[in-house]
Amino acid sequence: MSYEINLSGQVAIITGAAKGIGKAAAEILTQAGAQVVIDDIIDPENAKPIQDEIGKLGLRPHYIQKDISKEENCRDLAAEVLDKFSRIDILVNNAGVVANWEKSFDIHVKAVHFCAEAVKDHMAKRGNGRIINVTSTCVFSGGTGIPQYVATKAGAYSLTRYQAKTYAPLGILVNAVMPSVIMSEMIMTRYESIEEMEAHYIPLMPVGRIGYPEDVAKVILFLCSELSSFVCGEIIVADGGRLAVG
Ligand SMILES: NC(=O)c1ccc[n+]([C@@H]2O[C@H](COP(=O)([O-])OP(=O)(O)OC[C@H]3O[C@@H](n4cnc5c(N)ncnc54)[C@H](O)[C@@H]3O)[C@@H](O)[C@H]2O)c1
Repeated sequence: MSYEINLSGQVAIITGAAKGIGKAAAEILTQAGAQVVIDDIIDPENAKPIQDEIGKLGLRPHYIQKDISKEENCRDLAAEVLDKFSRIDILVNNAGVVANWEKSFDIHVKAVHFCAEAVKDHMAKRGNGRIINVTSTCVFSGGTGIPQYVATKAGAYSLTRYQAKTYAPLGILVNAVMPSVIMSEMIMTRYESIEEMEAHYIPLMPVGRIGYPEDVAKVILFLCSELSSFVCGEIIVADGGRLAVG
């Protein structure tokens, strides 16, 4: 007997999916058969090569340019997807920034709430849906000198519990992934080179390596799949063991 994850027929919105963890999630969900909708702030022309690349793995992802730091854009994103595909099965609240307090709060907290609210009624009508939020282990560790990031990622953590509790009776499962030390442009904003970043982190990692976007994308795929049908309100740490046994 073998298992497979098949998301054929399902529509998944991933915010901030033009690069990093979001792009890796777009790739793996496309491979699993889903119709992915990439949301990001980049120009549609610049999104085309990303759509072409991911399209080689399955259905060509659709791109929507919406800055989800604004509430109306969260609503418009969901409305546009429903207009085009008539369904939303999965929402991955992935977009993230290292920015000032206001922007950090808008993107890590308010957008996580408003995007979820924007898909909730549709998912509830069908009695089915998955929402996956992306928070960070810095919520527990205190992070490295960016208080506005740590505090607002804690907002995404607690909203996961709020949403899980409020939406579960509607048939919507909400969970989160809590990554750390994942190679991306965001983490590299704090280092001069990959060598410097690895020299800092690898000695701290029980698994002896840093993480890559695919490491987190695989957890997101699990949380979108039938394999996690009894998982609700969980925050799964994907950090190579650093938080638990590092
Ligand atoms: N890389 C890590 O080590 C790490 C660790 C913990 C948590 N995370 C979280 O993982 C998520 C993805 O981070 P990443 O490392 O892939 O970062 P990244 O910078 O590579 O990607 C973030 C994406 O979000 C998009 N984005 C930013 N503001 C947006 C907005 N207002 N509307 C729509 N899209 C927007 C960016 O354009 C970018 O494509 C974030 O929520 C981040 O906080 C990352």
